[in-house]
Amino acid sequence: MSEMKRLAAEKALEYVEDGMIVGVGTGSTVAYFIDGLARLKDRIKGTVSSSEQSTERLRSHGIEVMDLNATGPLSLYVDGADECDGNRRLIKGGGAALTREKIIAEASKTFVCIVDPSKQVGILGRFPLPVEVIPMARSLVAREIVRITGGQPVWRDDVVTDNGNWILDVHGLAITDPVGMERDLNQIPGVVSVGLFARRPADVVIVGGEPPVVL
Ligand code: A5P
Repeated sequence: MSEMKRLAAEKALEYVEDGMIVGVGTGSTVAYFIDGLARLKDRIKGTVSSSEQSTERLRSHGIEVMDLNATGPLSLYVDGADECDGNRRLIKGGGAALTREKIIAEASKTFVCIVDPSKQVGILGRFPLPVEVIPMARSLVAREIVRITGGQPVWRDDVVTDNGNWILDVHGLAITDPVGMERDLNQIPGVVSVGLFARRPADVVIVGGEPPVVL
């Protein structure tokens, strides 16, 4: 699958224009995008990063990483996903970076999502849905998730997010109303963010292949 990821990432580089500040996601597919972006680094103004992991990789290439509060709205955000449906709605957060990813997606005019073909699904939910929670609310949120969704939340107990929070992965979902579920889970006190990108889906999905398919 890594070649499929690389092909999707290469195609996404076509969306980068001179002078842009590019929002950069997190994950193994984005790592290929960052490596490709290094070739264009003198043509862009800089980047905004969604994780410490991506920041480190960007800086290792000498690519400038800027603060979203200083840049204002972005033209382009490129990120991967854990699942993608036919309406470009996504599950993200397998790498625990969902909150910063969601912030950058919201701040960006065009969100280009890069995936390998294994990420495409008819109904979201086969991949356990990540939810970032404030640590003291973990059990409360888990109980509410069971009540609202019928899914089974599992604490990712070896992970602390870049924001100092914890992740619950919700198993056993078939998400027929992603916008509704995103809204309902967002309202539980203690939830920082939900890894459903349905209210603000991707604008473009590039599925890696020869040639890549643009949805
Ligand atoms: C990070 O938290 C996730 O949202 C990533 O976008 C996702 O896990 C990407 O996965 P890959 O490593 O397969 O690109």
